[in-house]
Amino acid sequence: MTTPIHHTFGPLALQSQVLQAFRLQFQPWLWQHGPSREELRTALAKQYSRNVHVFDSGRSALWALLTALELQPGDEVILQGFTCAVVPNAIRAAGGTPIYVDISQRTLGLDPSLVRSAITRRTRAVICQHTFGIPSDTSALRIICDESDIALIEDCAHILPEQLSDRIGLHADAVLLSFGRDKAISGVSGGAVLTQHAFIAQRLDGIEKSAATLSKWEIFTLVCYPLRYATAKFLWPVHLGRLYLRIVRFFRLLPPVLTAEERRGIMTARAYALPNACAAMALLQFQQLRSINAHRHMLSERYAAAVHTLHAEVPRAAASSPALQKFPLLLPNAERIRRALKRQDIHLDDGWCGAVVNPRTTDQRAAGYPRGTCPESERIASHILSLPTHPTMTVKDADRLLAALEKLLHT
Ligand SMILES: Cc1ncc(COP(=O)(O)O)c(C=O)c1O
Repeated sequence: MTTPIHHTFGPLALQSQVLQAFRLQFQPWLWQHGPSREELRTALAKQYSRNVHVFDSGRSALWALLTALELQPGDEVILQGFTCAVVPNAIRAAGGTPIYVDISQRTLGLDPSLVRSAITRRTRAVICQHTFGIPSDTSALRIICDESDIALIEDCAHILPEQLSDRIGLHADAVLLSFGRDKAISGVSGGAVLTQHAFIAQRLDGIEKSAATLSKWEIFTLVCYPLRYATAKFLWPVHLGRLYLRIVRFFRLLPPVLTAEERRGIMTARAYALPNACAAMALLQFQQLRSINAHRHMLSERYAAAVHTLHAEVPRAAASSPALQKFPLLLPNAERIRRALKRQDIHLDDGWCGAVVNPRTTDQRAAGYPRGTCPESERIASHILSLPTHPTMTVKDADRLLAALEKLLHT
């Protein structure tokens, strides 16, 4: 039996991370505090020449950033349709109102022409999401934000370029990073804000200094995450992997990506500190960034070469991404194909399909999304089928996936 093809079974649990996590589970004195948090900050500051503030997750970092902007009740923050529930949650928790603007099929990011008409005198910020690592139209958004004196936040949760560029990062007042388990690099959990503005940095300093600490139990479950999936993959060929995952979930030994409260639109208005253990894991992967991004690029090129035989569309700007977090295809029967692939142990439900605010189990109304207001986002959500590019996805896996897809699409 082959191991499963997936988006979410420890996608960044590389052997080096599994070994590191194995050691860390026996070093509880390094879980909450230690040198790695400052080492990660220094490495990021050196690489991107920005002030760096780190938190326990990207959502926490986004909340901290919006809080630093001192939103007042009624202030609006523009975000795109086809996003993750934690983004509107962070906006509301920071005191703002999320305003959804539709996306362009070329980038799966904000359509700048629609952003201009959505700006009101209450708009305080625009969040430009580089969906799956596809560069959004940041130059156009910068001009629009400058016209109205609005902050531009680039949400780089899905992409960590080796350098900030005109396409990704350079135009932003602040850049949001995530080191979540399935993001560009993984500390299992973690997030950061990069900024060059002294006044934002100063307020973030205060927020980071007063951040709460995650409990040792919470950090233990995060540290063990790579080990859980390494064990599940080991047990898969003897048909025990699925059972093992069920057991660890039952005993709450696998931290959820999103809590039930978050799916209902609730986020605690408070920042948590980046645990030292997560910083250590993120730092190790940051040191491997070039090879991780090169691997993603290589798999994306392989998928791109096969696309013409699949009769699927690909968002045009995907070709200009330095490293796609996943490779998006647009197909009219995406859901049927996903279900058929699952029967072959190919799991392509990545939590980014079937809804404008993802995952689809999110209460869309609680997320503040008025149905029908972002028609292109709704269409993309129902047509998308994303292929994995993460570093534990091998070329052999990619070829197996392409062969299975080709067979399904031609029958
Ligand atoms: C677009 C986007 N922004 C921000 C976040 C927040 O990242 P994190 O999972 O680290 O909280 C996520 C993921 O959840 C995301 O998909």
